[in-house]
This record gives sequence, C-alpha cells and structure tokens, in this order.
Amino acid sequence: MKADLDRDTVILTKNTTEAINKLAYRFPWQAGDLVISTEMEHHSNDLPWRFRARVEYVPVDEKGCLQTAVLEKMLKEYYPHTRLLAVCGASNVTGHINDIHYLAAMAHEYGSLILVDAAQLVPHLPVDMKPHSDSSHIDFLAFSGHKIYAPFGCGALIGPREFFQLGNPDHTGGGTVSLVTKEQIIWAGLPDREEAGSPNVLGAILLADTLQYLQQLGLDRMAAYEDELTNHALAVLSAIPGITIYGSQPRVGVITFNLSSIPHAQLGVILCHEGGIGVRTGCFCAQNYVRRLLNINSERPLSDWRQVSPAHWPGMVRISLAAYNTREEIDRLASLLRQIANNTNYYQRLYPFNHHQQEFLPTISYHHDWMRNLV
Ligand SMILES: Cc1ncc(COP(=O)(O)O)c(C=O)c1O
Repeated sequence: MKADLDRDTVILTKNTTEAINKLAYRFPWQAGDLVISTEMEHHSNDLPWRFRARVEYVPVDEKGCLQTAVLEKMLKEYYPHTRLLAVCGASNVTGHINDIHYLAAMAHEYGSLILVDAAQLVPHLPVDMKPHSDSSHIDFLAFSGHKIYAPFGCGALIGPREFFQLGNPDHTGGGTVSLVTKEQIIWAGLPDREEAGSPNVLGAILLADTLQYLQQLGLDRMAAYEDELTNHALAVLSAIPGITIYGSQPRVGVITFNLSSIPHAQLGVILCHEGGIGVRTGCFCAQNYVRRLLNINSERPLSDWRQVSPAHWPGMVRISLAAYNTREEIDRLASLLRQIANNTNYYQRLYPFNHHQQEFLPTISYHHDWMRNLV
C-alpha cells in the first residue's frame, strides 16, 4: 500500500465494514459537514456515513462509471463543507476501476479528505497511497483480509496518526489505555488506542503473511494474468445469445451479467447444479447501483418490493476472477451458458421456484441421493 509508517497508522479491524464504521465514528464532525459518497458504493461505504453527516452521492452514467465532472461541480457547490470523499477503488458489481489518485487530487483541491474503500482493489491490483506531500495522496484506506486469501476476521484501516490522536476512540476498554484512575484516562499510543479488547493475533499475523506472500508472487504479474483472463471472459461471454454484460473498462476481474428472461437467482442455481460453477447472484450489497444499472425506478417505495416474490427481485449474476482461475474454466462457463440460452424452457422447468423455501431449487433427486450419502 506504500503507507508512510512515520505518518500513518495501521489499525486492525474485523473487515472493511468495521474500518469504515470506525472512521465514520472517529471523524470530528461539525454541524453542516458533508460526505460525498457515490452511487456505485457497496452498502458498507454508504450506510455508515448516513448517521454521522449529510451525504450526497456522485451519479454514475448508464455504464456505471462515476461522473467525475459532476463530482467537481458538487465539490465547488458545497465548498467548504465537504469533509470527506468516500469512494471505492474498484466496484464489487461492475469491477469498474476508479482513478483514485485523480479523485484524491480533486478532493484535496476543495479542502476535502478522501477515503478509498479498497475491498475490491487490494485483491486485484497493487495499491499506492502516495506520499503525504503529493496532492493525489490517499488519506484513508480500508480493506479486508479475507478478500486477499487471508482468513476471515482481519482487515485494516490506514490513516494519518495525527487524525487518530485527536478525540476518544470509538470503542474503549482493555488495551486502549496507558493509565487510568476513576477520573482520568490517558490513552495508549497508536494503533493500540483504536484496537479495543484482546487482539486477533492470529488474524494479524496471517494478514501480514498473506500480503508478503502476494508481494513475492508479484502483484503486477498477477494483475496482468487476471486482466488477460478478464478480457478472454468478456470476449467469450459477449458472444452468448441473449446475454447482457454490465459495466465497462477499465475493470478488475469482476463481471456481472443477465441472460435474457432467466431470473438471476435461477441462473445461479442452474450453473451451480449443472456445472459446479459457483457464482453470486442478487445485488451484491449495492442495491442502488444495481437498480441504476438495470434502469429500475429508484423512486419506487421499498415497501412495494416486499410484495414482490424473491423470484422477481432485481439482480444479476456475478463471476469473480482471480490468479487461480484458468481460461478453461471460463470456457466451461461460456459453454454451459450457451447451452442454457439455447434450452431455456428445459432448464427453467428443471429448476422451479420453491415457494416453501423461497428459492429456486432443482427438482431432480440426485441432490437427495448425494445428501443421503453424507449421513
Ligand atoms: C467494494 C466493497 N466494499 C466493502 C465491502 C465490505 O467488505 P467486508 O464484508 O469484508 O467488510 C465489500 C465486500 O464485498 C466490497 O466488495
């Protein structure tokens, strides 16, 4: 990440969500303060701000790319109230990569700090926070260990030491203090004062070890391989009849799509049972962004959606590529998708919506035989 360890602190958190919530709680907010978030954020880089400050959202275009000219207008219009630009480094829906250094320079020009939600950036590309003296420096960076092959339960928030030396920690208790009387507290140094309670020692060691291992493997080399896989996937998938692929370049190895009239959740179940291919379906914790990409009216009251069967909820199918994937796997996915596209009725009959369980399930019994063999 090229953090400046003389000036920055690395605070261990459970994950990106906890890191962003910590920053939201630790910010010295004043009346009238504003956070600029964007329409392409994961809920974890949207909801935490809503309860702490006024939030405005930078719109995205029909391909899901950030409208940076509008961002500049917003920074001008709201000057000097914008305290923070909270933006993802890469989208978990379209894989779209934001030019974080360009955005940082713009935010700084209008007196705002920048937080990069790097949950999807760190796993796919080398990240450089740049020196503090550089106008394109990233002030705060949040990411999760489990997205970079480390175990669940450890992530990090990196930010300036002087920022976290002000005010009280958001969580207090054991580990956060140097001296305590009934009346007084002297907080411990950083990062201890921000890491309340017994630390996740194993998680911290494995997070550091994983980062070192990835560095040894060569992050540039891995990113180049992933880029090649992504381009191959885009080429073969876009040739499938009835497919819609969302987003545009530049992107990391995250591709979302829908196949003509097959509900996303049904397609996910078919891919899983017919091909052993694990995909995620739905809105990927970014409901506003997905609705925008699907051109669904965002004004529709949420209570309306409760009346709609989950079989018809909006969403997409997502594949995520990594260094361990191969071209052959992508070709297998493409071949199965083509088969499904050419035999839609057949597959839809085999995987109906089960109203009792509220999900699409296979009608065939091998599932049960397989389960029986386990017991
Ligand atoms: C872009 C983005 N931000 C934030 C998060 C939240 O990460 P975590 O669940 O590890 O806190 C995710 C998780 O998928 C993500 O993709």
